[in-house]
Amino acid sequence: MESVNVYYFLERETEVPENDDWLSPAEMARLSTMRCPKRRADWRLGRWTAKRALATYFDWPDGIGDVRAIEILGLPNGAPRIVHHSEDLNIAISLSHRAGWGLCALAPGGRAIGCDLEVIEPRSRSFVEDYFTGQEQAFLDKWSSDRDVLVSLMWSAKESVLKTIQTGLTVDTRDVLVTVCDTTSASERRQQAFESRSAAWGSFQAWWAGKSFHGWYRCTDSLVSTFSADNEASRPISLRISGDGSGLRLRSLTKPEAAEEMLGSQELQV
Ligand SMILES: CC(C)(COP(=O)(O)OP(=O)(O)OC[C@H]1O[C@@H](n2cnc3c(N)ncnc32)[C@H](O)[C@@H]1OP(=O)(O)O)[C@@H](O)C(=O)NCCC(=O)NCCS
Repeated sequence: MESVNVYYFLERETEVPENDDWLSPAEMARLSTMRCPKRRADWRLGRWTAKRALATYFDWPDGIGDVRAIEILGLPNGAPRIVHHSEDLNIAISLSHRAGWGLCALAPGGRAIGCDLEVIEPRSRSFVEDYFTGQEQAFLDKWSSDRDVLVSLMWSAKESVLKTIQTGLTVDTRDVLVTVCDTTSASERRQQAFESRSAAWGSFQAWWAGKSFHGWYRCTDSLVSTFSADNEASRPISLRISGDGSGLRLRSLTKPEAAEEMLGSQELQV
């Protein structure tokens, strides 16, 4: 399989219109079944982000009727599916919403992809013991200052993979093995992160049920975003012309020797 181009669109919750006239009748029907205000807000943010992503990707007109015609409905397992004038767009989609941000990933050619946004925050040792493999725990034990970042990143990577295989958390997260990779030293990465926002991307690999997945991550000051694909994937390409995530300050991993650990982890095969 050839490497797939992965595109993404990041949107703030404050950009979502207050009224619902950009939702299709089927989307309105789905929204009416949701009682919890947070669930409604997240779901609307996901639809809005996905519609903007698709309109940008295909360069579709953005009149209200055009936006309404892009429907983001759900499969029985919760995965999003696109309906647009009964066309088969032959494009994979994945969604995430967290902390006032919506993220939509797209990839052409019917490939399987997943994306996820997580808040970078302390997670307990018991969380790690419950949801991470022994190998992942051993990797994390070598970190001190960036441990919260890495736990959040690896948790997000697992969720991206679980979206790629469309099982969600119905699968034991310890059945997914994530290894964080890097191809530059931590000091180079830090320098590049200051010079160019895009330099802050890093990559990971994951395995589940004998299949391997290729992924990318980017850490900002408060959030980590991850993307995974069922094979080699390009570094995610922003669908925004400029200013993507301008309110988020980039952060990089800071323990120099850890970069070498990451490099070594690329060799791993299971
Ligand atoms: C899928 C799951 C990993 C999402 O992670 P999360 O961190 O809680 O939430 P995120 O905001 O990152 O992602 C939510 C989005 O994931 C997508 N999603 C949900 N289930 C999915 C699946 N099985 N495969 C791929 N994507 C899925 C949806 O687009 C969802 O947003 P939406 O409901 O607004 O369309 C997790 O919620 C889960 O597994 N839930 C259990 C399965 C479930 O309840 N399915 C719903 C059946 S209706």
